[in-house]
Amino acid sequence: MPGLVIVGAQWGDEGKGKVTDLLAERADMIVRFQGGNNAGHTIIRDGETFKFHLIPSGILYPDKVCAIGNGVVIDPRVLWQELDELRRRRVDVSSLRISANAHLIMPYHVMLDTAGEAKLGKLSIGTTRRGIGPCYADKASRLGIRVQDLLDEKILRKKIMAAMEPKRSALRPYEKDPALDLHAMTEEYSSYGHRLEPYIADTAHLCWTELDAGRTVIFEGAQGTLLDLDHGTYPFVTSSNPVAGAACVGAGIGPSDIDEVWGVAKAYATRVGAGPFPTELEDETGRLMLERGHEFGTTTGRERRTGWLDLVALRYAVRLNTLTALAITKLDVLAGLDPLKVAVRYRSSEGAALEEFPYHQSILHSAEAEYKELPGFSGELGECRDESDLPPQARDYLRFVSEFVGVPIRLVGVGPDREQVVWMGERPALKAA
Ligand code: IMP
Repeated sequence: MPGLVIVGAQWGDEGKGKVTDLLAERADMIVRFQGGNNAGHTIIRDGETFKFHLIPSGILYPDKVCAIGNGVVIDPRVLWQELDELRRRRVDVSSLRISANAHLIMPYHVMLDTAGEAKLGKLSIGTTRRGIGPCYADKASRLGIRVQDLLDEKILRKKIMAAMEPKRSALRPYEKDPALDLHAMTEEYSSYGHRLEPYIADTAHLCWTELDAGRTVIFEGAQGTLLDLDHGTYPFVTSSNPVAGAACVGAGIGPSDIDEVWGVAKAYATRVGAGPFPTELEDETGRLMLERGHEFGTTTGRERRTGWLDLVALRYAVRLNTLTALAITKLDVLAGLDPLKVAVRYRSSEGAALEEFPYHQSILHSAEAEYKELPGFSGELGECRDESDLPPQARDYLRFVSEFVGVPIRLVGVGPDREQVVWMGERPALKAA
């Protein structure tokens, strides 16, 4: 039962879309299992750029089932726009399936997200303001509206009414008369229901059918391990679980359905929004990473914070996700930097050496990274396709990373295009023999 999970091993934006796209070529089904349109995947195919927020990266293959699992939160307006845009570009979207159990982002979730951030002021998290947190909160409070509710207008109206009332009072300090109209909202969401109906399905069952027949299913994560609600840098995290274990809950499979877990990490590090970032660079080198790596958010356009690769955090991600392989992206961005640095431990404000990622927020906030310096490499890596094409110092850099975290690197990104990758060792044969 070849189930493969792909997760971000840092703070998101690692290039999971490209890795998923490459691996999806050899898979039969691709499922997203958490997050919402706070995510953004960019895929460059034959010079054409595709940006997705909700739709799994596999949609560009017409013969694969592409599913949005129950763990995802869906803003139907955004989903419909994405579908429209894909159809306009003549991409066949008929293989898309949307879980009937996925929760919906409602207009009041977006309003609450914005109001919540404003209320926090200087302490704000820097959310994408897409309503993600309030939607997951409603899910946990059992006030959520699900995709299946779109198909019965009476039920939909009742559920919106119950969920909306408490929102009115919550929003009142920020907006005198929050624009929340039960009738208009019910009509709008009902109309999404009509349009999305052909895609609504029991996606967990679809996964079982594929897995039980020995076909390959990719479970595509969004965001990254360090933004995990339980294991990330709380409260500066997202409201779902981007770790591999969440693929089970968010897609409806069991742990033994998972055979491989790939983690995706950049050759350096980035983070959007607030929160601790021990290897952050606020200097020329950081600026260079930002510019060369085009480090601007796909979803919000915000500048990303940049820094050296943090191997303490990466080793933590390896263990949390039980990674079986790593894909290192954007190695080309580091060309010309000499020496290269990687964090190998932290030093606490009291002078203690921290070999493990600290679980205590105050310790992490004041921890300083200690680095190992490695020789830099120069030249254009964009044409490298084989491990032997890479400069020896680049290979040494990758070897050091792999040995430090104890996981093989199977794929290396050397440029934005789909073809600009180096497969290390054998290419994975995902399809069951
Ligand atoms: P939210 O997910 O919009 O609630 O935002 C919570 C935190 O997660 C903020 O720091 C966001 O910048 C960050 N975040 C959410 N989605 C992504 C993503 O796809 N990439 C990187 N950061 C993200």
